[in-house]
Amino acid sequence: MKNLNETDDPIAAPPAVVPQAELDEPALEPELEARAIDGLPSRFACFVTGTDTEIGKTLVSSAILHKLASGGVRACGMKPVAAGAELVEGELHNDDADMLIAAGNVHLPASITTPYMLREPAAPHIAAALEGVTIESAPIIAAFAEIQAASDAVVVEGVGGFRVPFNDDFDSADLAAQLNLPVILVVGMRLGCISHALLTVEAIVARGLVLAGWVANTADPNMRFAQENIEALAQRIPAPLLGRVPRLQTPTAAAAAEFIDLAGLPGWPSTRGQS
Ligand SMILES: Nc1ncnc2c1ncn2[C@@H]1O[C@H](COP(=O)(O)OP(=O)(O)OP(=O)(O)O)[C@@H](O)[C@H]1O
Ligand SMILES: [Mg+2]
Repeated sequence: MKNLNETDDPIAAPPAVVPQAELDEPALEPELEARAIDGLPSRFACFVTGTDTEIGKTLVSSAILHKLASGGVRACGMKPVAAGAELVEGELHNDDADMLIAAGNVHLPASITTPYMLREPAAPHIAAALEGVTIESAPIIAAFAEIQAASDAVVVEGVGGFRVPFNDDFDSADLAAQLNLPVILVVGMRLGCISHALLTVEAIVARGLVLAGWVANTADPNMRFAQENIEALAQRIPAPLLGRVPRLQTPTAAAAAEFIDLAGLPGWPSTRGQS
């Protein structure tokens, strides 16, 4: 657990003590390095949810992908349901999906990484109804399996908050449960976030999912008592704080990655120089 008094400083990397034997070895290609830990490819997957819409899930998901990809891991993002897409050169594009694609290094057809690419920027069940589409679980699960087969790490970004309806009896929490992935909760730090976060944690735990950790992302740069809010959350959330992302002037995957430490996550590949 990091020192909560460290506010906007990047999380310090562990001291670079490299055994002499390792220094003598020729450097491996990044991808081989990621696989060399015990002879097996590293496997990592997570489901990123948040306390609300527009609070930093895509930023954090792409930061995780950036860390994986820059450590030589074959990493792919998935935005299974995207509401808000525009035609660019004959193809539908969604900002979140594009940012995840840019941060990962495994590129699959958009029909796999975003099986439901909906045009209307609205609640997904409404956006889907406008197109005469019903969002179902099976195509998402099948697409996820394809992504897993093509990658060593998959980061799935949820939609909005944790319980967003997809159809009359299927919502984003059901999807998280069906995928059965460790969940990373992004808390958008602003007034009211404590209750949103704790309710979300309850809902995650109630579904038997593992809450792998949470990230405090600065949604409101003018929030008062942000540090005290983080401390209140840290006391009550039964999972590690993985980082605190300040308001970034340029909110890129690489910039946000500086503030997140994932080394303790289950299955996190221990690539040299990465945490
Ligand atoms: N720490 C930050 N510093 C600067 N800008 C940020 C930060 N976090 C988020 N933003 C910006 O706020 C907006 C919303 O962030 P993001 O798209 O990651 O949210 P989201 O939770 O994924 O939203 P959605 O529910 O639409 O998927 C984006 O424009 C993003 O660049
Ligand atoms: Mg998003």
